[in-house]
Amino acid sequence: MKGTLDWQSSEVVNIFDEASLWAAPFGQLLLQHIPMHPKNQVLDIGFGAGYPLIELSQRFGAEAQIYGIDIWAAAILRAKEKIRVLGIENITIFESDATSIPLETESIDLICSNLGINNFAEKEVVIAEAYRVLKTGGKLCISTNPKGTFQDLFAIFEKVLKEKKSAEQEKFQNYLAHRGTVESIVAEFAPIGLKLKKKVESACQMRFVNARAVFDHSLIRFGFLASWENFVAAEERKEFFAQVEKEIEAVIARDGELLMAIPMLYLEFEK
Ligand SMILES: C[S@@+](CC[C@H](N)C(=O)[O-])C[C@H]1O[C@@H](n2cnc3c(N)ncnc32)[C@H](O)[C@@H]1O
Repeated sequence: MKGTLDWQSSEVVNIFDEASLWAAPFGQLLLQHIPMHPKNQVLDIGFGAGYPLIELSQRFGAEAQIYGIDIWAAAILRAKEKIRVLGIENITIFESDATSIPLETESIDLICSNLGINNFAEKEVVIAEAYRVLKTGGKLCISTNPKGTFQDLFAIFEKVLKEKKSAEQEKFQNYLAHRGTVESIVAEFAPIGLKLKKKVESACQMRFVNARAVFDHSLIRFGFLASWENFVAAEERKEFFAQVEKEIEAVIARDGELLMAIPMLYLEFEK
């Protein structure tokens, strides 16, 4: 295994696209459904390296004002460089935590968050801030991956952990539990009075024909492997992943591939 990739290093960020293959289908889902009106004030919460921030700016055109807020310094530098090279003039970037958004109350028509808000550490505070800056009648639209993500692979993790009688099984169960169901994600936005206006459930998948390829894939190394390594103690790790790879190869021998399902969810709320 090639190991984790450090998402804080500028070397890694330099090869991270504004629409990584992982983020792209979620952003497409968002862009297919968000309500669009001219001269809108739009806010992208958690735009990473500029997605869908830059796309929103280009779709809404120069008459709209687009704001983006994120805390990821290295990625913000990259987004700024893209904005400069593309000659875009209607984007304002805030490098700050969305628990406090530097915008006027009731000033924004549309808030978007692709793979964002509902995974943030202090999501209740961020959702309340989003509500504050949203105009009455304004929309908050998110795209995210609910429970069921990579369930085929996680079934293998579970089997191996059980067979090994690993003491760390609780960590794995906690990891599975942290991802919300469609209902629990919807419920996170309800308490402050946002009304659900639209819900679209979709899916995509990652397919592999080789077990090692799963763990050497850049997306897995960048976004997931560090958490998965915590399922077992450091001294058990090598053996654990070797066993998981063996199980994956058995699935591939049976089915011709490992198919990792990725459910996708678009939610649109109104203030
Ligand atoms: C999974 S990434 C998605 C990035 C981008 N929207 C995309 O689709 O590629 C989540 C983003 O949310 C940002 N983020 C996490 N917590 C945040 C917070 N409290 N305030 C602002 N941004 C935050 C991260 O820095 C990261 O850029």
